[in-house]
Amino acid sequence: MSKKSLRVAVCGATGAVGREMLKVLEERDFPATEVVPFASSRSAGSTVPFKDAELTVRELKEDSFQGFDLALFSAGGGTSLKFAPLAAKAGCVVVDNSSAWRMDPEVPLVVPEVNPEHLERHKGIIANPNCSTIQMVVTLKPIHDEAKIKRIVVSTYQAVSGTGHKAIMELETQVRRLFNGQDVIPDVYPHQIAFNCLPQIDVFLDNGYTKEEMKMVNETIKIMGDDSIRVTATTVRVPVFYGHSEAVNIETEEKLTAEDCRLLLAKAPGVTVVDYPEKKAYPMAVHAAGEDDVFVGRIREDESIDKGLNLWIVADNIRKGAALNAVQIAEELLRRDLVRVP
Ligand code: A2P
Repeated sequence: MSKKSLRVAVCGATGAVGREMLKVLEERDFPATEVVPFASSRSAGSTVPFKDAELTVRELKEDSFQGFDLALFSAGGGTSLKFAPLAAKAGCVVVDNSSAWRMDPEVPLVVPEVNPEHLERHKGIIANPNCSTIQMVVTLKPIHDEAKIKRIVVSTYQAVSGTGHKAIMELETQVRRLFNGQDVIPDVYPHQIAFNCLPQIDVFLDNGYTKEEMKMVNETIKIMGDDSIRVTATTVRVPVFYGHSEAVNIETEEKLTAEDCRLLLAKAPGVTVVDYPEKKAYPMAVHAAGEDDVFVGRIREDESIDKGLNLWIVADNIRKGAALNAVQIAEELLRRDLVRVP
């Protein structure tokens, strides 16, 4: 890196992902000379922990980015739409966790284990993919390289933390109220989330799929850089606090045995294979929470077709699914000397 100083803005620093971004920057000893937390006027003046200090949160404003080199955004799509271009204009490279810019052809959508080379063509904004997509492509990329994936059928079991801090509180409150014989009042979600599964994440689209389902379809193709892959998804919110789980079925061009798949994934960056059915050992959300890797198990050949596999993929949606992936993108930008707006 050619720069002496590196000033980093964390936008949405009081939220579930923003707080984790600060934690990941600290844990990985990210070489920032200064880190400044931003949020809305509601929390300006409050503090967030970073290293041994409490940092004072500033209100995000149009002129906030002067003198910053890098901004990590996780403050919702509307905030990103408005502020990310202003940041880029001020010379500050944005890594954006919202869905606002992901499908913009000018914006690279990056998972560092999968397509780091896409960073080379950034114009100031880089998008962090959807949490469910990230853990799936980290696992499937090595399989695609080896056996060429023709089709993906995925069902997700997604934790409430993916919706943000208010949703974490909603699940907690509903569980407590139900144990006390009280009614629950859904607010963040359209229905009761405690002891329930909701086959709706985000809004419904004209084709009958939800926006989350179509994010998985479109983002997978963009990240893998291969529009011949057919993808179909069913996304479900479940009463889990941290960790998304996914049942994934793939059909491949070349035959890959379950054992070959295990050996391949054992070498894959960012992946840990946990697949010992005889010991009842497989990935679970409660084990993945707080971890960096994507965990994969239950690897089986699909006996209904010639060349297919079933996998069970679990990761911490706030870490690899959001904050960690964003910081890894920032690290890769530094490695490639790309922390500058062309
Ligand atoms: P605030 O705490 O001031 O509302 P979560 O996804 O956990 O709900 O967090 C959302 C994050 O985005 C919070 O840090 C929130 O700040 C921030 N945020 C929401 N709206 C804005 C806005 N208009 N400008 C800046 N930050 C925002």
